[in-house]
Amino acid sequence: MPDNPASDLSPSDMAKDAAARAAVALVEDGMRLGLGTGSTAVFMVQRLAQRVRAEGLRLRCAATSRATCELAEHLGMKIEELDEIGWLDLTLDGADEIDPDLNLIKGGGGAHLREKIVAAASDRMVVIADPQKVVETLGAFHLPVEVVPFGLETTRVHIQRLLDGQDLSQRPMLLRQRDGAVMRTDEGNVILDLSLDLIHDPATLAAGLAAIPGVVEHGLFLGLCDTALIGSPDGSVIELAREDAA
Ligand code: 5RP
Repeated sequence: MPDNPASDLSPSDMAKDAAARAAVALVEDGMRLGLGTGSTAVFMVQRLAQRVRAEGLRLRCAATSRATCELAEHLGMKIEELDEIGWLDLTLDGADEIDPDLNLIKGGGGAHLREKIVAAASDRMVVIADPQKVVETLGAFHLPVEVVPFGLETTRVHIQRLLDGQDLSQRPMLLRQRDGAVMRTDEGNVILDLSLDLIHDPATLAAGLAAIPGVVEHGLFLGLCDTALIGSPDGSVIELAREDAA
């Protein structure tokens, strides 16, 4: 792991690192933090570990995935179970899409179940991303839906009926694979990726998906993100705030 995460980076990674740096600047000594998952979150964890080492910050951190937990511990940070910490002051996480109301699609890394639990247990959720993640309307990125393996095919039928009823144009749902096998989440479930094009009414879709037996969690994060920090390859960062955020 390089000591300077910004050495030798692609423009997209420079943007992610810029956002990560701005997010980590929000961290104060004594905070209880949620650590997100994904390639942008990797920069955030690296930057955070640097500050912990340099400044001796005393933090209590919960990770949103096994991968993030392993990275943070590898970098010398202590990770605790969310329930050991209880409530969190701040969660820093990436996103696959961010709309103007700071609604998100998450789950490209398959961690959206734990990510949503952690975000919902936080006073503030700050999302870090590169500019490609900012969209007018959610939906170009596939929508991940975590499903229990039992009865997968009947759950798939329920989801298809829901999408048909909401006139959501849809190519076939894909059962997510990794390394040539069906991918299992950290909770042992599987993920159906929905190709929807444009989601004009995310709240109705979210409610419909949440009501289907067998669906554990979907990747729509509505009203959870308070601030988005959008990095650019030149190192600058734009801050977007949710209008109704406290
Ligand atoms: C993982 C996520 C990630 O935050 C999301 O996929 C963004 O990842 P990246 O920073 O690699 O683009 O939701 O479940």
